[in-house]
Amino acid sequence: MLYSGNLLFNIQAQPKIEPTLITISTEELSMIFGTNSAGTLMFHHFGNKINDPSAFRIKKSYRRSDYGTDPEGYSTNGGRNFREPALRITHSDGDLNTELIYQSHTQRLLEDSNVQETVIRLKDRKLPLLVNITVKAFQKENVITQSIQIENQELSEIVLHNYYSMYLPVKAERYFLNSFAGDWAKEMGLEENQLTHGIKSIESKKGMRTTRTENPSFLLSLNAPMDENYGEVIGGALAWSGNYKLNFELDEFGVLNISAGINPFASEYHLKKGETFATPEAIFTYSNVGAGGISRNLHDWARNYGVYDPLTIRPTLLNSWEGAYFDFDEKTITDMVDDAAEMGLELFVLDDGWFGNNYPRNGSGAGLGDWQVNIKKLPRGIDYIASYTSEKGLKFGIWIEPEMVNPKSDLAIAHPDWIVKSNGRDMPTIRNQWLLDLSNPDVQDFIFSVFDNVMQQSSHISYVKWDANRHAESVGSAYLDDNRQSHFWIDYTKGFYNVLERIRVKYPETIIQTCASGGGRVDYGALKYTQEVRTSDNTDALSRIFIQYGTNFIYPTIVTGSNVSAVPNHQTNNVTPLKFRFDVAMSGRLGMELQPKDMNDEDREFAKQAIADYKSIRDLVMFGDLYRIASPYDNQGYYSLSYVDKDKKRAVVYGYCISYRGRGLTPKFKLRGLDPDKKYLLKEINKLTKKSNFWGDGQIFSGQYLIEEGINPHLQKMYDSAVFSLVEVE
Ligand code: DGJ
Repeated sequence: MLYSGNLLFNIQAQPKIEPTLITISTEELSMIFGTNSAGTLMFHHFGNKINDPSAFRIKKSYRRSDYGTDPEGYSTNGGRNFREPALRITHSDGDLNTELIYQSHTQRLLEDSNVQETVIRLKDRKLPLLVNITVKAFQKENVITQSIQIENQELSEIVLHNYYSMYLPVKAERYFLNSFAGDWAKEMGLEENQLTHGIKSIESKKGMRTTRTENPSFLLSLNAPMDENYGEVIGGALAWSGNYKLNFELDEFGVLNISAGINPFASEYHLKKGETFATPEAIFTYSNVGAGGISRNLHDWARNYGVYDPLTIRPTLLNSWEGAYFDFDEKTITDMVDDAAEMGLELFVLDDGWFGNNYPRNGSGAGLGDWQVNIKKLPRGIDYIASYTSEKGLKFGIWIEPEMVNPKSDLAIAHPDWIVKSNGRDMPTIRNQWLLDLSNPDVQDFIFSVFDNVMQQSSHISYVKWDANRHAESVGSAYLDDNRQSHFWIDYTKGFYNVLERIRVKYPETIIQTCASGGGRVDYGALKYTQEVRTSDNTDALSRIFIQYGTNFIYPTIVTGSNVSAVPNHQTNNVTPLKFRFDVAMSGRLGMELQPKDMNDEDREFAKQAIADYKSIRDLVMFGDLYRIASPYDNQGYYSLSYVDKDKKRAVVYGYCISYRGRGLTPKFKLRGLDPDKKYLLKEINKLTKKSNFWGDGQIFSGQYLIEEGINPHLQKMYDSAVFSLVEVE
């Protein structure tokens, strides 16, 4: 029934609100809202700092109001807003309209005064529906986060349809959206599209492995195609591991309306009287020095606020997967540990295949859910090999996939009600497995207990690789009420976070790597609780250049695991030199994933040197500023990047030849981020022979020379590569 009852909240009853300006700022950016005479929160500015915003008080719009409203602060369904609404509700009386009116706002400084928190309180003009916009402004990082809290004080239940975390209207001449797309083993490919009128969306409806094909992140270049070093760019990401949607709607006024948040797809959320719904955070920033500025701001924010345990160096590792797959016994593992120790690696990770007895995990077809050690493969248990690893001076890590169950498992037989399924329909498997229903608190308890019990198997476990190898499909929850089935997508993700919260209370120091068939869970929602991601299942170094290049636009290198594997590569069949594989992997968190027994002595010696050299520069990789020097997408045949420490005293520079362009061509890598007034000693590291790839090896250069003239290493043949260390000299 429409408009019944509550005329109490009619516009006439509202006091007239004096126009107000709300200025949110970081060291270099401002975001400015204001109210109009009707009390609506309007959006004014996001970009470089405006020290005197007072003109926004009197700014006039030439827009005819019957053509649609000027950009609002948080767009809703109703009135003359004809855009995709950030908030769309069916109210308790059936009303489909929401008109948010400014009530008040507060601002305060949090945490060491680096975070300015602004809460803007809004209320529907007619009904007691309260909406808070919480904006945090990270001063030094020049990053903004925004989330929304929706409180139902109406007489009965309301239904939320759209409830985006962020709404940002942008005005420029032209818009170039850069986003990430791909597939399994081909994640995070960079795509640029000039936006035309209508809506372009980036989204996932898969429920799980949501970042396998697209990623909840973007870079929007204003006026011109995106450049690494020049031009205005807005970039951001959503901290959510479930279904997401980011909309870019170009309207008839030339305004690009960005809304980003949980995907409304099949996700109507019922909110009882008195309940509050809180959205995840959207994170965004602005740069007028191109895409590089966006990445550096996001990385700084991530390392200070967005990633779990951001200040600890991630250890180098040997992972058993591509070296042994499911086929191992105790000796296979202890031999691998010996080899890892000999090469100077710091962690050994036992991957899939160690569990299941009634249904042994000897392939992907059985055992998931039965997290007891397989006594045939490992008769002395996990503690034996974990202690062995520890005695060799390495940390020990183990693989789990606790959200999943194989039909062939004790768990599937004991708890059919825990499996996500639509009753009376087929129960399709993906990789022979079903998904457990994390919206159910009992399942949350179970998954916590899986982690807990695995950790109890040995005091030497300090790393857990948390995998997830299927999407959610044919969704149905035996736990949720019939009229709450659409809550599944949200309650699943909240259940996942709830388990991680509990794990973090008990295991604050354990390193957790998220993996979802490789790069399917690369998002700032999970990274709040975890230290690193398996960037991709594709370990081919050439493919990795593109995958890591894309991933590190948004996510800092400290989280991106990168393993050297055997050739021909198991995913692509590509054959690359060992040095090239190491040089690519050492631009991320270096690891290895092969059977060391298959390496010859020369390769093992080289691996030892590469690992030692990596240790000498890895603090730069993990904590330095990323400067991309040559893009692998530019078709020039090269890729180059560098990390520079905050004091500009040290840097590491990588160069790779990724396609043959003829004998006459050499690269000119103009280095970025250095201090032009400093002098640097340049040394090539991880050399294959004594001969250097660059005539300037061992020489001192001025920062100015390196910035203006650059270096021209001899990288001409396919897969030639070089790594240089720069250290300031007096
Ligand atoms: C998929 C992961 O991405 C791989 O690294 C490996 O852990 C397998 N699952 C194990 O089944």
